[in-house]
Amino acid sequence: MKCRNRHFTLIFINKKHSILTTILAIESSCDDTSAAVLQDEILLSNVTAGQEVHKKYGGVVPELASRAHQANIVPVVDAALKDAGVKISDIDAIAFTRGPGLLGSLLVGVSFAKGFALANNIPMIEVNHLDGHVAALFLKEKGVPHRDPAFPFLTLLVSGGHTQIIKVNGYFEKEIIGETIDDAAGEAFDKTAKILGLPYPGGPLIDKYAKLGKPKRFSFSRPGVGDTDFSFSGLKTSILYFVRNEHAKNPDFVKENLYDICASVQYTIVDILLEKLKNAVKKTRIKEIAIAGGVSANSGLREQLIYEAEKNNWVLHIPDFKFTTDNAAMIGISAYWKYLKKEFAGQEVTAEARF
Ligand code: KG4
Ligand code: ZN
Repeated sequence: MKCRNRHFTLIFINKKHSILTTILAIESSCDDTSAAVLQDEILLSNVTAGQEVHKKYGGVVPELASRAHQANIVPVVDAALKDAGVKISDIDAIAFTRGPGLLGSLLVGVSFAKGFALANNIPMIEVNHLDGHVAALFLKEKGVPHRDPAFPFLTLLVSGGHTQIIKVNGYFEKEIIGETIDDAAGEAFDKTAKILGLPYPGGPLIDKYAKLGKPKRFSFSRPGVGDTDFSFSGLKTSILYFVRNEHAKNPDFVKENLYDICASVQYTIVDILLEKLKNAVKKTRIKEIAIAGGVSANSGLREQLIYEAEKNNWVLHIPDFKFTTDNAAMIGISAYWKYLKKEFAGQEVTAEARF
């Protein structure tokens, strides 16, 4: 109750003096500890600490991720406040990712937010991680030209945990047009990397090597799911068997053909993503198109999207690289819209792995 009373006072002061709303946001759903400070929709700082510890395991180890978040969260928040040039007493609300994600990772952010809210007598705002990825398309930075997507628009949300085509009708109104029935696109990149003996996360490395290879040298199996749905587990198996067979004939096959394998895998994944997106455009007749999530950093996907946008007269929204993979800035802007609606979380709020 205290929080709410203070909030109403703040709203009153804000209106009277037109002061901007300052939000501190925390993101800790997977293996990035991130903190950001925003004033309304303008980003003042965004600090992220990655976790090298998972590299050798070929994927995120939940227990290690949770421990690393605990070690990183205070220094990351401290750096975000310093970068933004704000004091703790300037913060009007604290936002956090409630889910989906790894429970032990989410708990660190949720607990930090609870403590921070209590200690400073400010409201808490819970954010869905996937809403955050879409909200990233609206982030603004001082001196950087920006154009918001116009509603309704389609977003291809491609990350390590999710692959969806979403029709975004408003800040809080979304419809899922299609999604993966098994692996996410990011997982397809990461699992391929593991098969090839590359460290986690594999996406950025495959992207780098793909630039040096021939995209049509090898072909892999395509999923047979619905028009706008995705399936990547068959592709992963097809890559695994292909590499195993070739390795049996020539133990140096991967080493000798790494760039061509990466280029061919990336070409296949991007082609599947684009095919489904084009089907969604046909179905909805919406030509305002955006991409979001870690895989939207992929250079092959970006190039192909730009090509299709020109060919089909799409209005395209591609986020800045730093807003594609997990970051707290996207949590902050999503929270700002909830702040305007006075949608606050209570101290009883829990982290939700499947939110
Ligand atoms: O959005 P994100 O940081 O975390 C999740 O919410 O899952 O996405 C991480 C995923 C990983 O699978 C990573 O390999 C992939 O994004 N990724 C990329 C690239 N950069 C990150 N995949 C392909 N190409 C990239 N350049
Ligand atoms: Zn994410």
